[in-house]
Amino acid sequence: MSDRQWSAMMLGDEACAGSASFYPFEEAVRRTYGYQHLIPTHQDRGAEQLLSQCLIRKGDVIPANMYFTTTRLHQELAGGSFANVIIDDAHDPDSLHPFKGNIDLNKLELVLRENPGRVPYVDGK
Ligand SMILES: Cc1ncc(COP(=O)(O)O)c(C=O)c1O
Repeated sequence: MSDRQWSAMMLGDEACAGSASFYPFEEAVRRTYGYQHLIPTHQDRGAEQLLSQCLIRKGDVIPANMYFTTTRLHQELAGGSFANVIIDDAHDPDSLHPFKGNIDLNKLELVLRENPGRVPYVDGK
């Protein structure tokens, strides 16, 4: 990160509500991504909670390239279940695969075929 990025991080107002950093953040996100609506969250786990409650219905399945504890918990609290579709090399510490975070497309296809209409999104971290 640049010296400006580090200093901005140190100066940021991380209050959970009413943060003064919200407006510059909102402006930067709109300028960069063009989103009309955005909801700032103080941490990733807060965003996961909102996303999971909005998109997941009971019985849904969420394929992902490995789980992250809080992500999986929020998916399960919303009534969904996690399906690991990461490549087998991810589980092999001796493997020198250049990117162990890859999604195995055959595993993903199987999950999609077995759960028609029950996959709200694919979680690729
Ligand atoms: C997918 C995912 N969820 C949640 C977290 C936790 O982030 P936070 O401490 O901001 O909630 C991380 C952190 O790396 C993450 O990668």
